[in-house]
Amino acid sequence: MNDETRARTAIERCRTLAGFSQDLGSTRRMFLSPPMRDCHREITSWLKPLGAEVRIDAAGNLRGFYAADRAVAPRLLIGSHLDTVPNAGAFDGILGVVLGVALLEALRGKRLPFGIEVIGFSEEEGQRFGTPFIGSRALVGRLDEELLNRKDDRGICVRQAIQDFGLDPREIPAAALSGDTLGYVEFHIEQGPVLDGLERPLGVVEAIAGQSRLEFVFVGSVNHAGTTPMNRRQDAIAAAAEWITAVEREAQQTDGLLATIGSVTAKPGAANVIAGETRLTLDVRHGSDEVRNRAAETLVRLAEAIAGRRGMSVAHTTRLTQRSVAMDPKLMNQIEEAIRLSGCEPYKMVSGAGHDAMILAERVPASMIFLRTPHGISHDPAESVRVEDVAKAIAAGSHLFELLAQSPPIQRRTQLA
Ligand code: HGY
Ligand code: MN
Ligand code: MN
Repeated sequence: MNDETRARTAIERCRTLAGFSQDLGSTRRMFLSPPMRDCHREITSWLKPLGAEVRIDAAGNLRGFYAADRAVAPRLLIGSHLDTVPNAGAFDGILGVVLGVALLEALRGKRLPFGIEVIGFSEEEGQRFGTPFIGSRALVGRLDEELLNRKDDRGICVRQAIQDFGLDPREIPAAALSGDTLGYVEFHIEQGPVLDGLERPLGVVEAIAGQSRLEFVFVGSVNHAGTTPMNRRQDAIAAAAEWITAVEREAQQTDGLLATIGSVTAKPGAANVIAGETRLTLDVRHGSDEVRNRAAETLVRLAEAIAGRRGMSVAHTTRLTQRSVAMDPKLMNQIEEAIRLSGCEPYKMVSGAGHDAMILAERVPASMIFLRTPHGISHDPAESVRVEDVAKAIAAGSHLFELLAQSPPIQRRTQLA
């Protein structure tokens, strides 16, 4: 089987997994939701015939381990996330797990001087509990009490969700990274227009931009739409609308700043009732942590000023402040060489999207290989990949294995063994 055939299989598998959803007719898979079980079962059915041991750790991560050619050996992690945003595409996250399986299949039973662990993280998007990276935080020892007590919109906390899925939160420490981890490689679609615009199939991620996620509640006064004069209103939707345009203006005027209000919900939400409460989410991104933190503070002050002028109140909760993270230079160099060996020129770039690699980087050398996203469309069913780019990614991954097997740290171990 050649890389193109493997690429077609990988794309088909991504589309199969996209069919496992909480919603009819679209893809949505949140932390430890029932369709996660289908994903675990399907991916296990691909891994077991290769001789990999598969387990689900206490954070709901799928862990497939393909042993080395010797008992004592380091391991390389390859993975990405299994969860999705609502109405998702078929490749964000999932492709990185499916390519890990494809690379094991491309070994055709060969064992390397290092083990390979394919990981499907249980939660990266932050949809269910408002905070991302639950799965990968378990590997670096940060699935802590505060996070375990976070509640979803039905009042179920992370700990309870783990128990409801049949897992034991007391086993979370066993999900930690093994001491002998060579590094982490994440294949992921770029989710933006850069590689497509440059007509490049593959990119090498130098750094992942930091992100802040906040929630705001504007509180006004409910009243009758037909009897309340305009100058006597405390309209929570009007206040939110004024702030939303102020957020957009601030981001347009600050170089490199991305600020997004992704969700707005108003209460009571009736056409003839002035809204008394509006809940909004704010996502702030920038390559510089200082600029991002300053922008988040500015946007909080803007909300407070608007609410104050209208005789209303506004409260905010910071759900995440994730610093920008550089990828490992040594792994980057090896990936660049592997991409050249696969017949294309690598393109170094910064990721505006967040990824589990930024969490793994706290403990082990982490790296990412981007695949071109046609038309730069992601977080949407129109998300796609090209067969030839997936084939190049598989070729590059196989070359990377060869380069790592010949690398001095591994060679030194081989001589010592
Ligand atoms: O939101 C992000 O950056 C990623 O898609 N989870
Ligand atoms: Mn995503
Ligand atoms: Mn993703």
